[in-house]
Amino acid sequence: MTAKQTAKVVFMPTGRRGEFSMGTPLLQAAQKLGVDIDSICGGRGLCGRCQVLCMEGEFPKLGIHSSLKHLNGLTEAEQRYETQRKPLAAGRRLGCHAYIQGDLVIDVPPDSQVHQQLVRKDAELRDIVLDTSTQLHYVKVEEPDMHSPKGDLQRLYEALAWEWQLQDLSCDTALLPRLQSVLREGKWGVTVAVQQGSRMTAIWPGLRDKVYGIAVDVGSTTIAAHLCDLVSGAVIASASSMNPQIRFGEDLMSRVSYVMMNPEGTEAMSAAVRQALNELIEQLVKQAKITRDTILEMVLLGNPIMHHLLLGISPVELGGAPFALTTNEAVHAYAYELDLQINRGGRVYILPCIAGHVGADAAGVVLSEEPYLQDAISLLVDVGTNAEIVLGNKERLLACSSPTGPAFEGAQISSGQRAAPGAIERVRIDPDTKEARFKVIGSDLWSDEEGFAASVAKIGVNGICGSGIIEVIAEMYLAGVISEDGVIDGALADSTQRVIPQGRTFAYVLYDSGEGDERVIVVTQNDVRQIQLAKAALYAGVKLLMDKMGINQVERIRLAGAFGSHIDVKHAMILGLIPDCPLDKVASAGNAAGTGARIALLNQAARRTIEAVVQRIEKIETAVEPKFQDYFVEAMAFPHKTDHFPHLFSVVQRPPKKAIQANPDSDSNSRRRRRRG
Ligand code: FES
Repeated sequence: MTAKQTAKVVFMPTGRRGEFSMGTPLLQAAQKLGVDIDSICGGRGLCGRCQVLCMEGEFPKLGIHSSLKHLNGLTEAEQRYETQRKPLAAGRRLGCHAYIQGDLVIDVPPDSQVHQQLVRKDAELRDIVLDTSTQLHYVKVEEPDMHSPKGDLQRLYEALAWEWQLQDLSCDTALLPRLQSVLREGKWGVTVAVQQGSRMTAIWPGLRDKVYGIAVDVGSTTIAAHLCDLVSGAVIASASSMNPQIRFGEDLMSRVSYVMMNPEGTEAMSAAVRQALNELIEQLVKQAKITRDTILEMVLLGNPIMHHLLLGISPVELGGAPFALTTNEAVHAYAYELDLQINRGGRVYILPCIAGHVGADAAGVVLSEEPYLQDAISLLVDVGTNAEIVLGNKERLLACSSPTGPAFEGAQISSGQRAAPGAIERVRIDPDTKEARFKVIGSDLWSDEEGFAASVAKIGVNGICGSGIIEVIAEMYLAGVISEDGVIDGALADSTQRVIPQGRTFAYVLYDSGEGDERVIVVTQNDVRQIQLAKAALYAGVKLLMDKMGINQVERIRLAGAFGSHIDVKHAMILGLIPDCPLDKVASAGNAAGTGARIALLNQAARRTIEAVVQRIEKIETAVEPKFQDYFVEAMAFPHKTDHFPHLFSVVQRPPKKAIQANPDSDSNSRRRRRRG
């Protein structure tokens, strides 16, 4: 008898099932079936986010006898994970290292699923000069005549030339099949959509005065779309969703790694994002009670990797030096070429990327903030796993990116998590008692206010999100819990229970439910180091651009992106995430990239503007700049080793200097990690 070549696998709780070749990793099987399993490391067995539980026993309804024996034994990677991170709970395996060897019922526990994130990308209010590239023209067309052999299309052209002075028009072939019926349905009165005065892209019977466009910010975590009335410019509906590519890898480099390891990865991620876009279109259409055929244009932007995957281009070249883009020009396409379900003749415009690691999203921020029109020198920072930085004014613009890593998003932080209900997002620490109070997403109360416990009873206090991490470490510095070198002061353990020993270093207890280790949220020495590394990378990038520009002071700072919009600018400056600047000149730019997309949707001149501006932005490559490393090292201190922060310390009490001996191991470990990264 020949051995079985395939096995049945059912994933719970979704119940998705499939037949897979023996030896297929469970993570890959889950992704093939569209089961959301978290992954930060792209299947390297490092992050532990892909944990699954093998259910054992008979499952008669499913026709499966499931057993742990139907998986390979614990791999070296899993053993390494257990010793270096923490032991896997009974029956749990890393999905990326558990290989199918027989029929299985696999449970994907909630902590391994991609959680619903709070989506806060709302359309910003901003005046935009309306000048869309699509114009509507109603015409009356001459009826056919036995004695004149002209076609219906030719008589339509004549009518448009006569009534609208539109000469030399052409017509999308996609319109031809319905042209005759539309003309007759409209009793020879039709509305035609004409793109850029030269091409007919849509036609409707009778008078039509409403057509729409969609502006989309394709973020690596969140996709946010705004439906706009192309006639009034108004935002009619907004919708957002998680980027489903998360199931292939949480951060950008994991997605690039996924493509490197899986030849079909580009196609799979491209299909996933296009499907998500179509689902968003569906939501917008329903919200606005319109039909898809009235949507004539889409403008999209995203970082270079999102940009390439959207277009079905492998992002592999963007994963390493020299970070070559396939194209640094704007992309014009038909919506159907990208499988986007709007009007058959609908057009897509994608903003140009600035460089291989500074994307079309940064171009959107530039378009929205218009530093190229201003005298004041602006610093625009889009904080993400790769911070995109633009500095300059109407004379000169520079751009670079800095490898901040995912720490600001809660990854690599012991109690870090995404911005979701139950995440600590605001923190204050009393400098005298070292006691902390905090707020969590989902409750309006501070933790020391009456009713707090009841308000978080359902959501819990689960971890710290990006803005919370910024605040807690800045507050620890202000309260003297950590030194300016970022060392947690172990001497405080004698006077406060908030500081506890942890191995050879110390940790700060931010929250203790009193229910044992599982419910304690601490900030460890390593957490502080991770934030130092991330903020130093960002500051070093900024410093490099300031250096190139020949300035030592910026005049205004705008923080863009979901993270940038929610961090407190004062705490960001206390940490030394951004350089010193009058605090009233520092602000969130909100979803500036999304606003840029909307501007490009509604104003065709803006497209020409940003295309020209992007060409003249000087691209600085931090990886090859010798000074970057020095700037990085100096920026490890809070707020900075050598730079002064006069504006900041005119409004914030600078804590007294403390010299605390750092644990030599923790420092050298941090440096080793940075070099490897
Ligand atoms: S451990 Fe990271 S994906 Fe499996």
